[in-house]
Amino acid sequence: MTTVLVTGASGMIGSRLVRELAARGHDVRASVRTADRAATLGDLATLAVIADLDDPAAVDRAVAGCDQVVLIAANSERQAQQELTVIDAAERHGVAYLIKLSVGGPAADAPLALARDHYRSEQRLQAAGVPATVVRPGFVMQNLLQFAAWIQPDGTWRLPFGDGAMAMVDAVDVAAALAVLVGSGRPTADQVWTGAESLTMADAAQQLSGATGRPITYADGDAEAFYEHYVADGHEPRYARDITVLYDQIVRAGWVAPVAPDLEQVLGRAPRTFAQFAAEHAAEFAATPSSPE
Ligand SMILES: NC(=O)c1ccc[n+]([C@@H]2O[C@H](COP(=O)([O-])OP(=O)(O)OC[C@H]3O[C@@H](n4cnc5c(N)ncnc54)[C@H](OP(=O)(O)O)[C@@H]3O)[C@@H](O)[C@H]2O)c1
Repeated sequence: MTTVLVTGASGMIGSRLVRELAARGHDVRASVRTADRAATLGDLATLAVIADLDDPAAVDRAVAGCDQVVLIAANSERQAQQELTVIDAAERHGVAYLIKLSVGGPAADAPLALARDHYRSEQRLQAAGVPATVVRPGFVMQNLLQFAAWIQPDGTWRLPFGDGAMAMVDAVDVAAALAVLVGSGRPTADQVWTGAESLTMADAAQQLSGATGRPITYADGDAEAFYEHYVADGHEPRYARDITVLYDQIVRAGWVAPVAPDLEQVLGRAPRTFAQFAAEHAAEFAATPSSPE
C-alpha cells in the first residue's frame, strides 16, 4: 500500500484530495498545521498528522516513511520557505514521487509574488532530483465563493476581470486528478489543468442567475477598489495585491482563457462544467448579501 503525505490537508484542494485517496485505499497522512485543525477532516480526522510547515522537525517526522508527497501550501510570504522545507525532507528520506501544486507562469521576474515563490520552489525541486510532477491548475471555480457576499442587493457583482475569459477548473476535478497521479506513482511532464470551456465573468454571472433564480449581473470593477475591499475581507496586503494584479491585468488580458487537454487526459472523462458548479453552489450565491460594497 502506498503511504502518501498530503500537505495543506485542511484546505480547498487538500481536503478533497485526502477524501479521494482514502476512498481509493491509500494510506494517507493528512498534514494539518495544528491538532485542532484535524477536526476539519471530519470522519477522516484519524488520518491527521500535525506538521506546521514552518517547523522543519515536524515536517521531517511527517515525511519520514512516506512513499509519496503531495505538496500543497497556502499563498503567503512564508510559502517558498515552507515548500523548500518539504522538498528537503523528501530528498533526505528518498521519497519516490512528489507532486507539487503550482501555478501557471512561474518565473524569477513574474509579476505576481506567488508565482516567483512557486518558481523558487520548482527550481529547488529540480535540483533535489526527487521524481516529481508539477501541476498548474487554472483559475479554480471555488475562488468565486469568496465573492458571493459581494453581490449587491440589486444583483450587481463588481469585480475587476474586464471581459477576460477564464478556462475555470473545479477543485473537485483537481483533487480527483491528483489522486490519479498518486495512483500511477510515476512522474509526468508538467500538467496544465483547466476546464473544457472558457467563460467570461458575464457568462458566469448569467449561469449563476439561472442556477439561483436571483438576477446577478457582472460589472467591471476598479482595481484599487477591489484591492481595498479584499484587504478589508482579511487578506494579507501582499496576497491581495497579487490577486488584484492577477484579475485586473492577467485575466483581463485573456492570459487564462486557453483550454488545455491535460486534465481530461488524466481523468479519462470531461472536466466538470461551470453549470455543474453553479447548480451545486446555488445556495451560497443566492444568499442575501451581508457586506455592503
Ligand atoms: N485557487 C486557485 O485558483 C489556484 C490556482 C492554481 C494554483 N493554486 C495554488 O494552490 C495552492 C493553495 O491550495 P488551496 O487553494 O487548496 O489552499 P487553501 O485552501 O488556502 O489551503 C491552504 C492550506 O495550507 C494550510 N497551511 C497554511 N499555513 C500552514 C502552515 N504554516 N503549516 C501547515 N499548513 C498550513 C492551511 O491550513 P489552515 O486550515 O490551518 O489555515 C490550509 O490547509 C497555492 O499554492 C496556490 O498558489 C491555486
